[in-house]
Amino acid sequence: MSEQVIVSVENGIQKLTINRAEKKNALTQDMYAILADSLVNAETNPDIRVSVITGTADSFTSGNDLMDFLQNPAQDEKTPVIRFLNALAIIRKPLVAAVNGLAVGVGTTMLLHCDLVYASENASFTLPFVNLALVPEAASSYLLPKMLGHQRAAELLLLGEKFDAEKALRYGIVNEIVSAEDLEKTAMGAAEKLAAKAPEALRLAKSLMKGDGDKVLEQMKEEGEIFQSRLVSPEAREAMTAFMERRTPDFTKFS
Ligand code: COA
Repeated sequence: MSEQVIVSVENGIQKLTINRAEKKNALTQDMYAILADSLVNAETNPDIRVSVITGTADSFTSGNDLMDFLQNPAQDEKTPVIRFLNALAIIRKPLVAAVNGLAVGVGTTMLLHCDLVYASENASFTLPFVNLALVPEAASSYLLPKMLGHQRAAELLLLGEKFDAEKALRYGIVNEIVSAEDLEKTAMGAAEKLAAKAPEALRLAKSLMKGDGDKVLEQMKEEGEIFQSRLVSPEAREAMTAFMERRTPDFTKFS
């Protein structure tokens, strides 16, 4: 089996490539663990000045593996998914995203924590939490209303419909849209520029800009507690079973 997250370090840049194309790069606990460890370990590794995260084939990531959600609903502090989300909130070294295709769920919410986000023309974004009878995660219920105002955040989080790269650019979720061929070059070029800068100044500048870190962690914790109880709810079971059975969920029996 090929590596599902490929980690490489070169010229001060750690590249994390999500590589499970046959499942649209859905993230399992093992994959989250590699991502979390890589981001956390980079903080103390002088050979790494910046990280880049990207996907493969037509997907950045289709979000959490839904089978994993059904089989392992635990979401406590020690689980890889929570370690990954916390890492996104606390890392001081820059993180650049190259969104090469589908960005579903955490595929979109992780972008709210990245410092620079480049998307290919064919990238698409979805926040389907409520469609899955879940609630938003990664502090997106705080960060999106702060960025966009309540109505546009509600459009993305409550309607949960797919939106394109143009809209993501307009909403300030991505910095730039480039062609699929230019995506890697653009993201790596930006990472190279960051890697050449004074590292402590970069870390301090990032920390100053992300002044509300405690609030972000607090919101993640609150979301996490509700998320965990939602995962075992009959509504969410119906939504995820419907996905597996390739049918529309039936929420009419719930009140
Ligand atoms: N978890 C588990 N498996 C997933 C997955 C996920 N998040 N996303 C895709 N897959 C699997 C599909 O089950 C399918 O597996 P199979 O070939 O064994 O049947 C394979 O990946 C290809 O997906 P498919 O649905 O056929 O591709 P598509 O191009 O028609 O649609 C998506 C792609 C991403 C829009 C669709 O798969 C989807 O909606 N996935 C769920 C996304 C989601 O809700 N994520 C959780 C966010 S909290």
